Amino acid sequence: MRIPQFGLGTFRLKDQAVIDSVKTALEVGYRAIDTAQVYENEAAVGQAIAESGVARQDLFLTTKIWVDNFAEDKFISSLKDSLQKLRTDTVDLTLIHWPAPALGVSIPSVMQLLLEAKQQGLTKKIGISNFNIALTQQAIDSIGVEHIATNQIELSPYLQNRTLVNFLREQNIDVTSYMTLAYGKVLQDPTLVEIAAQHQATTAQVALAWALQNGFAVIPSSTKRENLISNLKAQDLTLSAEEMQLIAQLERNGREVSPEPFAPEWDK
Ligand SMILES: NC(=O)c1ccc[n+]([C@@H]2O[C@H](COP(=O)([O-])OP(=O)(O)OC[C@H]3O[C@@H](n4cnc5c(N)ncnc54)[C@H](OP(=O)(O)O)[C@@H]3O)[C@@H](O)[C@H]2O)c1
Repeated sequence: MRIPQFGLGTFRLKDQAVIDSVKTALEVGYRAIDTAQVYENEAAVGQAIAESGVARQDLFLTTKIWVDNFAEDKFISSLKDSLQKLRTDTVDLTLIHWPAPALGVSIPSVMQLLLEAKQQGLTKKIGISNFNIALTQQAIDSIGVEHIATNQIELSPYLQNRTLVNFLREQNIDVTSYMTLAYGKVLQDPTLVEIAAQHQATTAQVALAWALQNGFAVIPSSTKRENLISNLKAQDLTLSAEEMQLIAQLERNGREVSPEPFAPEWDK
């Protein structure tokens, strides 16, 4: 994979909550962090990294450009602001947070700006988030598939996004699963609970191991030390083919995130 398989999500976490989560995560072994301009926590994430003592070159840092900054005169300067907040000269990965054709933004124009940010050295890799097949194809046509490191999409046992995943695999674009735990909703699932009991694991570990075994990168978030530690250990859990098949059957189009007016439809 071009991007780390396991990272820390920071959506909804601000101020001291995100500082504590990031510092604890770094202390227990996380080395990739996912933030975004719209999370309004980049400065706190930057502070936490600085206070952690982990060297910048040992970290993989991702941010995402928000739709308000897609205009030509805002895009690059907004990323420079993000770098300043994160206390770094360059991030490892920058994503277009949401494609926004409904807001009149053309995919080729944002992709060109993103490529320019890479060429200026403001980000090592670039990618997309929340792009369905048609929009991903437009992104590929705009700048070439070789520049697109990942598509970060909602993907959990309840929303497996298989049609899009198959397309991304064909294109050799890494899949990042966000909300792998469906913000906690999959954790009471009887099938996952049963599989977890067989392995003396947690249900979160089973959901994360299922995603990892499918070849997806994951970025679960947590405010709790014990959850941060146990989630990371999902990398040591191996599910059988039969267990993977049982989880495949949990699909129920369980979409959690769909911001109006720009969220695209997922492919059927
Ligand atoms: N690109 C996008 O548009 C987009 C959209 C949404 C999210 N994301 C990214 O994806 C990341 C993950 O999504 P998310 O944070 O929304 O949801 P998530 O990772 O699916 O779930 C996080 C929730 O699960 C709980 N949790 C985590 N580990 C647990 C465990 N072992 N046992 C029990 N509960 C556990 C956490 O509570 P505790 O704090 O109590 O542990 C938290 O409430 C985000 O933080 C963000 O970085 C990206």
